[in-house]
Amino acid sequence: MLYATTLSLLALAFFSLASGTPSVASVYDCTKAKGVPIVKPGDSSFAELAEPFNLRLRYTPKVIVLPTTAQHISDAIICAGEEDGKIKIQARGGGHSYASFSSGGQDGSMIINLQNFQDIKLDKETNLVRVGGGVRLGNLAQGIYDQGKRALPHGTCPGVGIGGHATHGGYGYTSRTWGLALDTIVGLDVVLPNGTITYITDKQHPDIYWALRGASESFGVVYNFYMKTNPAPQKITYFQFHWNEILGSRQDFIDTFRHIQDFATNSSVIDERITFGLYIDGSTYRLTGSTFGPLDEFNEKIKPELFRTIKAPSSSTVESVDWIPFLISLSDQDSLAEPLTGYDKHDTFFAKSITVPESDGLSDAALGAFHDHINNDQNPESWYTIINLYGGPKSAVNAKTKEFASYAERNSLWVFQNYGVQTSSMPFIQKINDVILQAQPQTRFGAYINYVDPTLDAKTAHELYYGQETYEKLERIKKVVDPKMLFWNPQAIGA
Ligand SMILES: Cc1cc2nc3c(=O)[nH]c(=O)nc-3n(C[C@H](O)[C@H](O)[C@H](O)COP(=O)(O)OP(=O)(O)OC[C@H]3O[C@@H](n4cnc5c(N)ncnc54)[C@H](O)[C@@H]3O)c2cc1C
Ligand SMILES: *[C@@H]1O[C@H](CO)[C@@H](O)[C@H](O)[C@H]1NC(C)=O
Ligand SMILES: *[C@@H]1O[C@H](CO)[C@@H](O)[C@H](O)[C@H]1NC(C)=O
Repeated sequence: MLYATTLSLLALAFFSLASGTPSVASVYDCTKAKGVPIVKPGDSSFAELAEPFNLRLRYTPKVIVLPTTAQHISDAIICAGEEDGKIKIQARGGGHSYASFSSGGQDGSMIINLQNFQDIKLDKETNLVRVGGGVRLGNLAQGIYDQGKRALPHGTCPGVGIGGHATHGGYGYTSRTWGLALDTIVGLDVVLPNGTITYITDKQHPDIYWALRGASESFGVVYNFYMKTNPAPQKITYFQFHWNEILGSRQDFIDTFRHIQDFATNSSVIDERITFGLYIDGSTYRLTGSTFGPLDEFNEKIKPELFRTIKAPSSSTVESVDWIPFLISLSDQDSLAEPLTGYDKHDTFFAKSITVPESDGLSDAALGAFHDHINNDQNPESWYTIINLYGGPKSAVNAKTKEFASYAERNSLWVFQNYGVQTSSMPFIQKINDVILQAQPQTRFGAYINYVDPTLDAKTAHELYYGQETYEKLERIKKVVDPKMLFWNPQAIGA
């Protein structure tokens, strides 16, 4: 037994020498020969550049590439490819992947960090904006406003990167009106897995265009996005209500949410101009939203229907605000500006999502089970659930089909994000999903890929994010575009 093991180890060592497997140093030699800027373990800036947003999942890349040109990206990909598929590649935009996939999702990857691709250029004729692959959302929102009073739909956190956000959905307060960030893309400057530098649209490489918008991590590096902007609204109506006291009463909890769900699907009060979400934790039950409609319309027509049949909220805010102050108030910061290098905000967390099909909504049984679980006495110190309205009457998110892009969540009413701080919160967060799914066994729930869940095996992840038909199409394109599986993370297409 011992003898056999020793022999096979020897054989293995001999085989890799004899077969001329490139030595560990070669990706470094190759990038050096081509003049590609890299950072490797031991270099002074390596530790900081390798740090993901989510410090719970740290991985050590083999090499971090810091390209300043598309040619650098192409050369780096060719160098990784020469290692025969052994070095996997991931682009890094803002680094906010919940699973640290932009650190590879495993040790030993090549990370192509886009921090030098920070240009934001609005074309005043076409109102298209060209956005570098490393731009963060706060700088983007401020940049297009300053250049031409324009706006895009996207999430609220200024540090999130456009690179991951807009290629896996990208939901924010204006998404029911303007769609997801992904829906505004009309073209992409990309370096493909074979090193080709190309511009991709619905006419040029339509398959890759479809695939990148939903699964960019598996198909190349986007170094510029071209996106359709909207005029920034002069004023937006913002509202917030608290019903904290219902948390303790099972019946009030069910009744309140059931009414909010009826309200959310009532086309005499809800159209594409309005959106809202619920924030729930151990002591808070809060509804926050906004509408492009005027304050009076909200107060006179919409609010009365929201409050009809349920208890009055314990606190209310309804106000009309300017666009940039609105974005700042959602950001929890003093300004939207983020540093171009040296971004250093982090959290240590675990999150899961649930997408709730419009056809089913949430049942009283699911709401009761959710209530009972979050009222148990073994809750982690810090957790929350956010339930955002993606669907409902006239939602722009659900106006698109699966032919439009590989991003496949186009019929969800609600999207849950269940978020807990530290590894110790994982069983509690997992159980939020479990109790809701078990209480509604007939419903086909999915998951939101921008809240990528590191605990899912690849097959389950693909089924929840894409469904079978979309996934199989992605897999066919992957085999053509990236046969060596260079672009990889544990849940990538083909993993
Ligand atoms: C604090 C916080 C707030 C958030 N708020 C929202 C929200 O309001 N709405 C919402 O929808 N989501 C939200 N998210 C989720 C967020 O949209 C995703 O985490 C998103 O994928 C992050 O993008 P990134 O570029 O920062 O991430 P990264 O970690 O850099 O990338 C994520 C994935 O995309 C790939 N990728 C990144 N850039 C490129 C590129 N240029 N070309 C090809 N592939 C690329 C990476 O390889 C990786 O697999 C939030 C996340 C956090 C941490
Ligand atoms: C929808 O809203 C209208 C206007 O407030 C109200 O009269 C009606 O009863 C609501 N419908 C449902 C199903 O709640
Ligand atoms: C690179 O890949 C693209 C997409 O699959 C393909 O169209 C192109 O011909 C390839 N280029 C080379 C040089 O192989």
